[in-house]
Amino acid sequence: MLIIAHRGASGYAPENTIAAFELAINQNADGMELDVHLTKDGEVVICHDDDVKRTTNSQGLIKDMTLEELRRLDAGSWYGESFRGITIPTLQEFMALAADTHMLINLEIKNLPYYHKGIEQKLIRSVHEHDMLDRVVISSFDHYALAETARLEPAMKLGVLFSTRVIDPWDYVRKLPFAAYSLHPHYSFVDVEYIRQCHAHGYKVYPYTVNEAEWAGPLAQAGLDGVITNYPDRFR
Ligand code: G3P
Ligand code: MG
Repeated sequence: MLIIAHRGASGYAPENTIAAFELAINQNADGMELDVHLTKDGEVVICHDDDVKRTTNSQGLIKDMTLEELRRLDAGSWYGESFRGITIPTLQEFMALAADTHMLINLEIKNLPYYHKGIEQKLIRSVHEHDMLDRVVISSFDHYALAETARLEPAMKLGVLFSTRVIDPWDYVRKLPFAAYSLHPHYSFVDVEYIRQCHAHGYKVYPYTVNEAEWAGPLAQAGLDGVITNYPDRFR
């Protein structure tokens, strides 16, 4: 079972920052999940929310700010004084770090409510530049973004995110206009039968956000492929 650090080791460091990703590496996580947006000037940056308000010392929508404007913000002190001064990372910075590992990388396209036109092509370009096609999974709650990614790069691994309890999600995924690699459901939807059905249909299962090792234990026995967690060290 793969241990995938959710927004980096975000239980211990400010989410979606290089500090959180470095900690995930140090905690021997098998993978890292991160959320991506496009800035006003078309740069791919890593942040969970559309607005920087929660995770920086400022506010405003990422889509309305340039990279230079975003880089002036402090993305660490909201979490703790010792992280003061660290910045919102770009995808390029992250990929340079990840290229030196052998980890699974899960890039999550944040497309709701603002559609980041052209982000799929930028992710694909970066994945190729770093020669990481074999170990990147692109996921999104916006399944149109996944279809667009598949159109541009049919070899990309695609993870279908679910925040609601869809009936027979494996049937829904099978009907999508691309071949999905994995289902990424909220963990509360997942049980032994869910895993069995996904595997029978040829999909891996990576639930989020799993923070209790006790929950994962029995499902790991049932073949759960991985967990997306804020606390990678709890699963070792
Ligand atoms: O990709 C798994 C998980 O990150 C999805 O939800 O809101 O934490 O990005 P969220
Ligand atoms: Mg995410």
